[in-house]
Amino acid sequence: MVKHMLATEAIMRALAKKFGEEEEEWGLTGLLHDIDVELVEGDMNSHSKLGADIARELGASEEMAHAILCHNEAHGIPRETKLDKALFCADPLSGLITAAALIRPDKLTGLTARSVMKRFREKRFAAGVNREQVLSCQEIGLELEGFIALGLEAMKGIASKLEL
Ligand SMILES: [Fe+2]
Repeated sequence: MVKHMLATEAIMRALAKKFGEEEEEWGLTGLLHDIDVELVEGDMNSHSKLGADIARELGASEEMAHAILCHNEAHGIPRETKLDKALFCADPLSGLITAAALIRPDKLTGLTARSVMKRFREKRFAAGVNREQVLSCQEIGLELEGFIALGLEAMKGIASKLEL
C-alpha cells in the first residue's frame, strides 16, 4: 500500500509539472489518497471519507481533501477540479504499471509505454485495474499512450523506492 501511494505521488507530481500546477499539492494528494485503507477494513462506504478527514487534519487544503474524497466512486461525488480528475486516473495507472513490471525479470528498467499499452488491452491482465478509470485521463486532455508514458517515466524515477 505504501508503495502504491508513493507511485501515485510520483505520477501526480509528473502531471502537475506537465500542467504547471502545484507539484507539492498534487504530489501530496497522491501520497495521501489511500491513507485510510487499513483503517476502514474494506468498508468502501467509509473509504476516502475517513481519508479526506485525516488529510484535512494533517493540513491538506479543501481541494486536496475533495480529490481524495471523490476518488472513491462509491460516494457518487462528481469530480470537479483538474486535481480530482488527475487523482482518479493516476490511481489505477500505478497499479497497471506495477503489474506490468512485476512479471518482467528487469521490472521497470526495460518496460516501455508500448508494452504497458498492450497489457492495458489484455482484459485478463491485472483484471482489477479499471480500464475506464485509466482512460479518464482524456478528461484532463491526455491521450492514453502519452499518459502511460508519463506515468511510467515517473515511476522509473523512484524505481528503487518501489523496489521495481
Ligand atoms: Fe489508490
